[in-house]
Amino acid sequence: RQAIMAYNTMQAKIQQFIAERTLMLASISHDLRAPLTRIRLRCEFIEDIDQQRKLIRDTDEMQSMINSALGFFRDETLREQATSFDLSELLQTVIDDYSDQGIDVVFSGPAHLVYFGRPVGIKRMTANLLENAVKYARHPRIELINGQTSVCIEVSDEGPGIADSELENVFVPFFRLEPSRNRDSGGVGLGLSSARAMARQHGGELLLRNRMGGGLIAQVELPHGAINRTGSAEGA
Ligand SMILES: Nc1ncnc2c1ncn2[C@@H]1O[C@H](COP(=O)(O)OP(=O)(O)OP(=O)(O)O)[C@@H](O)[C@H]1O
Ligand SMILES: [Mg+2]
Repeated sequence: RQAIMAYNTMQAKIQQFIAERTLMLASISHDLRAPLTRIRLRCEFIEDIDQQRKLIRDTDEMQSMINSALGFFRDETLREQATSFDLSELLQTVIDDYSDQGIDVVFSGPAHLVYFGRPVGIKRMTANLLENAVKYARHPRIELINGQTSVCIEVSDEGPGIADSELENVFVPFFRLEPSRNRDSGGVGLGLSSARAMARQHGGELLLRNRMGGGLIAQVELPHGAINRTGSAEGA
């Protein structure tokens, strides 16, 4: 009993620490915007066209990193209410968004599966994983498996995969691998970090591994009943 109480106190302290740090990072990101806008305006007065172009590109890049960071912190602070929903149907809507663009995503799993959690967050998490499979690879697919104690969502592709030594690094915010460094492929490197944060909010985990025969598998394990009715993950 005493151990449980000590554990709960520690849990609460960690939660508060994270909340404070999130708030601090959010305000730093926010405050960087004003000087950055001024720099961007001053770029117009640079006479060397080539230098000007490069500087504008850099400031635009910083702007989009800051905007994504702010979006990320916003989600962390305003947590969605947990509710019962059909996870299978939700995954199909993510897939439909792609078929509308002419991209086929293979789905396998039950037609219906009720899960208790945060539907908007889970949708965004899956969309992030699928976006990577479409952007960096081909033949994307989603598999939904209902287990005894948890559900498992697997997003896989037949692309280049990720070197084993980088499999954890890609979860670091803003980290992108060399070939995708160039900004033309969009993205700032927050997709996987926020997807993992969402899995963990549900008391679950997101792991990456390479497929035999090439390609990446992003595996999300979502335990049943880890989120309680007030919407906080127990023990996570
Ligand atoms: N399915 C995949 N196949 C190969 N490489 C991948 C795959 N998914 C992610 N990566 C690599 O991991 C990096 C990090 O992915 P992440 O989704 O976090 O960021 P991003 O896609 O670059 O940007 P964002 O998701 O914020 O738009 C990517 O830049 C890419 O190099
Ligand atoms: Mg991404």
